[in-house]
Amino acid sequence: MFDTMTMTKATGAVCGALLVLLLGNWAASALYSTSPAGGHHGEEVAQAYTIDTGATGGDEGGAAEVVDFATIYANADAAAGEKIFNKCKACHKLDGADITGPHLNGVVDREIASIAGFAYSSSMADHKGAHWTPETLDTFLTSPKAFAANTKMSFAGLPKPEERANLIAFLATQN
Ligand code: HEC
Repeated sequence: MFDTMTMTKATGAVCGALLVLLLGNWAASALYSTSPAGGHHGEEVAQAYTIDTGATGGDEGGAAEVVDFATIYANADAAAGEKIFNKCKACHKLDGADITGPHLNGVVDREIASIAGFAYSSSMADHKGAHWTPETLDTFLTSPKAFAANTKMSFAGLPKPEERANLIAFLATQN
């Protein structure tokens, strides 16, 4: 009888303690989930970018990107592409002059590695005969090294399909 009462009280105490713990946990997680929103803006922004990248490239995979290129290119914004060309300006001119890289005016539909007097890498020269269609440029600009293993173009690539499409649309206006 006495023991049963003790057991009941003890059980009650344990249950009470569990309830307090559960409530505490709940309150804590509510607090934790609100504080990063206000306090760690950087994390929030980084997370937003991760979700964006995943939606455009990650989940659907590379194949979906290639299939979608025509659609993305059809809606490309050449004016936005002009700003992206700032990443290329250090090595490429649009006035027929070759500097570190060959001039890029008229590059869309130009034969690959066809600028006379420019010393292309062997793996770029291997593509001679083919042309820089918008699709080929898209593949090359995604990862120059994947397209031409020993390319002299020291550029990591443009991971965002929209940026590539906008840039190619801009290049197509430069004759
Ligand atoms: C650090 C210098 C550098 C940067 C930055 C750079 N390129 Fe290049 N690019 C080169 C070089 C060097 C080559 C020649 C590559 C080879 O022969 O392998 C080249 C080749 C090319 C070619 C092939 C041209 C042809 O005649 O076949 C294209 C197209 C091209 N680059 C586009 C771009 C674009 C677009 C950007 C900007 C997103 C860019 N490059 C950024 C240096 C650069």
